[in-house]
Amino acid sequence: MADTAVNLESEQYENHREAGEILAQVREETADRVEVGVSHLEIAEYAEDRIRELGGTPAFPVNISIDEEAAHRTPSIGDDSTFGEEMINLDIGVHIDGWLADTAITVDLSGNPELAEASEQALEAAIDVIEPGVETGEIGAEIEDVIDGYGFNPVVNLTGHGLGHWEQHTTPNIPNRAVSQGVTLEVGDVVAIEPFATDGGGKVTEGSSEEIFSLEREASVRNRQAREALEQITGEFRTLPFATRWLETDRPEMALRRLKRQNVVHGYPVLKEDEGYLVSQKEHTLIITEDGCEVTTAN
Ligand code: CO
Repeated sequence: MADTAVNLESEQYENHREAGEILAQVREETADRVEVGVSHLEIAEYAEDRIRELGGTPAFPVNISIDEEAAHRTPSIGDDSTFGEEMINLDIGVHIDGWLADTAITVDLSGNPELAEASEQALEAAIDVIEPGVETGEIGAEIEDVIDGYGFNPVVNLTGHGLGHWEQHTTPNIPNRAVSQGVTLEVGDVVAIEPFATDGGGKVTEGSSEEIFSLEREASVRNRQAREALEQITGEFRTLPFATRWLETDRPEMALRRLKRQNVVHGYPVLKEDEGYLVSQKEHTLIITEDGCEVTTAN
């Protein structure tokens, strides 16, 4: 007889769990090091090196978003920015053979603990309603309710997501507000849930800077640096996002400009609220099980 039941003990899920365990440890150790005056680059490299030391691979560059920024900022080559009295979101990923874990935490040095708490509590409430058959719209409604209750807005154009093999963002989307057309989660689904709370309007827009990229299509390129960069991308990062500072070729910025012009890679612009507002974020990865879910990135 064919058995169509999902085997949650298979290698795929063991890899997800191992990635989650490494990531939970790295998240806590990294967050502990964030202080006024510490450099962004030092924090990003600390986390990425620590992931490798513990036997994982960074699934994407550590995102360090400050104040109104919500996602997609990572230090540039030689970046000398340091932390101030700000709201800082760290979003970190690990993979083992392409099986991912994705987590985020807010370190609040700005004196707005309720805003950080709002996304944390929203995530807890979302996790509480998760079981096989739950609709993603219902998860979004929980998130929205909790954040509303704090007097803040969820960021509605950022969502949680499924995690595929070598794919950081796949279906289903997990909305951060109530929606009527959701999908249901089933045993074996691996999803990242990531509420963002803000004292702004709740919609992020694209900024002008890009430090994170991923492969769009393979192509032959003539320029030496572009070719070397592309070899590293296809061999090492495959379809996962990478940072300019991860490229080993000389003149990596020029190589990326060429690859972008040929639509071989695409960039992820920094996403942000309007200036003067703050954004907090909390994220866990979980596996849907028969009786609820297993949080792979739990402390
Ligand atoms: Co995520």
